[in-house]
Amino acid sequence: MQQLTSSVTDAVDQAVAALDFDLLYREYWEQNEFLVIKEFLPRAFVEEVFVPQAQAVKSDLNRNYIPGHKKGGSVSYYTVQEKAPRFLDLYRSESFRQFLNRLVGAKLVYCPDNDPHSCALYYYTEPGDHIGFHYDTSYYKGARYTILMGLVDRSTHCKLVCELFKDQPTRQPRHLELITEPGDMVIFNGDKLWHAVTPLGEGEERIALTMEYVTNAEMGAVKRLYSNLKDSFGYFGFATVFKRALGLNRSK
Ligand SMILES: [Fe+2]
Repeated sequence: MQQLTSSVTDAVDQAVAALDFDLLYREYWEQNEFLVIKEFLPRAFVEEVFVPQAQAVKSDLNRNYIPGHKKGGSVSYYTVQEKAPRFLDLYRSESFRQFLNRLVGAKLVYCPDNDPHSCALYYYTEPGDHIGFHYDTSYYKGARYTILMGLVDRSTHCKLVCELFKDQPTRQPRHLELITEPGDMVIFNGDKLWHAVTPLGEGEERIALTMEYVTNAEMGAVKRLYSNLKDSFGYFGFATVFKRALGLNRSK
């Protein structure tokens, strides 16, 4: 019980220290900058500390629907900052970022404060919720890395489906279907992993944390506008995205 009540920072420090870094490093690079770490954080810790925060902000989630591509709910970084701050303890953990730096071979920085994806939550709560195949394309001047962590997985249908090596025409793609159980972590370079989430079944639920780091947080004005429009339609809604983009709700 002592371990369950320790801080997120301590739990993350312990989790990072327990990793077999050399093995993970090899896997990450052999899989074209893609890695799965089963139970990075203990399931019991995730269910005690993180899941209640994710459930508590469900009333703030923005439902979105793009016919033929995407249906689901999202809670932005801005809401996480205000109402679910334990997730930021993970996102901003220094030991975690040092681990990522070594893994990807680059110095990662946080996304700017006006990026609603920096540390956000994805909810699959209604039958058919899914997202079609896509890359997490970087609109930044540097590379973009996505880190997903499973929070709730009461589903047999809703899986993260990945096509490794899709961006390398000379290699045979490798197809993976993953269940992200509480505490499981997936790390990848957004421009390299072709991925989707398959539709949720009746009476099921899946919630995942997404975190984003970049190697250069600068973004041109045209790409920022495009990124904001995409986030408005596909994830968080216009009011959320453009209030912060225009500096109208800079609450911390
Ligand atoms: Fe994605």
